Amino acid sequence: MKPEISTAFTEVAALEDRYQLATYKKMPIVAERGSGVWLYAADGQKYLDLYGGHAVAGTGHSHPHVVAALRKQADKLLFYSNLVYSGARARAAEKLASIAPPSLAKVFFCNSGTEANENAMRMARLATGRENVITFSGGFHGRTADAISATFLGMYRELGKPNVPGHVAAEFGDLESVRRLAGDSIAAIMLEPIQSMAGVRMAAPEFYEGLRRLCDERGIVLIYDEVQTGVGRTGEWFFAGSQAGAGVVPEIITLAKALGSGIPVGACLVSETIAGHIKENDLGTTFGGGMMAMAAVSATLEAIENDGMLANVKSVEAHLRESLASMSGVLEVAGKGFLLGLRFKEKAAEIHRSLLERRIITGTSSDPNVIRLLPPLCLSKPEVDLFVNALSEVLPG
Ligand SMILES: Cc1ncc(COP(=O)(O)O)c(C=O)c1O
Repeated sequence: MKPEISTAFTEVAALEDRYQLATYKKMPIVAERGSGVWLYAADGQKYLDLYGGHAVAGTGHSHPHVVAALRKQADKLLFYSNLVYSGARARAAEKLASIAPPSLAKVFFCNSGTEANENAMRMARLATGRENVITFSGGFHGRTADAISATFLGMYRELGKPNVPGHVAAEFGDLESVRRLAGDSIAAIMLEPIQSMAGVRMAAPEFYEGLRRLCDERGIVLIYDEVQTGVGRTGEWFFAGSQAGAGVVPEIITLAKALGSGIPVGACLVSETIAGHIKENDLGTTFGGGMMAMAAVSATLEAIENDGMLANVKSVEAHLRESLASMSGVLEVAGKGFLLGLRFKEKAAEIHRSLLERRIITGTSSDPNVIRLLPPLCLSKPEVDLFVNALSEVLPG
């Protein structure tokens, strides 16, 4: 049942392999166009995309509202930096603040998740006058120097040597391990509230509550890296403030990935208290806050709202969980909303490959037995059924 390797694929792959650094193991697909949860390849095949290009296609591929907003903005002005005011930027900031937890009403725009995290840690250092940061084993925060030094997952930190000093790791879900490290030098505690790359790990609500209390007691800034969990992925706009996280709201939320529907954009949402410590020139960026990215942010948030995607995530997650409950090969479904980790007895790489042969794209993780699903927020129940049927064919017994 292997897909035929077409001429279209062979030619493009040869060219790309010749000129691009081989930093990714690629799927045998030449992506040509997309619509909703479907990715169309140059050879005419279509794929059910349950991965969304690393969780980016939150609104689905090429959502018409986002595309129209980008066309309109492109006709007017592609870019100008933060040295001028911009209606597109003002509207994006207002829109983002309107859906954020009420205490996080200020935003800093940048271009990616790693940058958002670097800026968040810098703001925490500026606000506290302290240097060190606690993160968690299994957390992933990006590949630039400070963010990779905060990433205690697999080989990443090693890749970032020499690391930025002052990063220490606690055990995710273990409050006592955090308390032991939370001394006078700690500026921030930063975490992925649901650890995605580690295989979709979530802590008990009391853990988030405990972190909030500890930070309040010791004057530490709490940072949620919501690069994956933000912008509707869990069925709420953010994990911050949600019931699963005991309603806890940090001082800073970092965002990227789905925020621009594919146009690169990152953001830090910050409290007034943190904002009060940031003055001119403390942070900066050339491209952050550019008009195309800002048009993408506003249109992305509007599309999620207009199409009722948050409610869709909740009801389709419930349908998926129900459908998987009767499959003996699925040992566990971890996570929330459309950030789900399916645990199997078998190796995830095998299942990923077999699903791909059936033209369904899923994600692996650093846990060899977990398949990750990060589909567009518009995934429907019939599309879930396609996946579940394919999975039942793929799983042995
Ligand atoms: C939780 C989390 N934080 C940060 C990043 C880094 O984002 P970017 O690749 O946009 O720099 C990622 C990327 O996978 C991520 O999953």
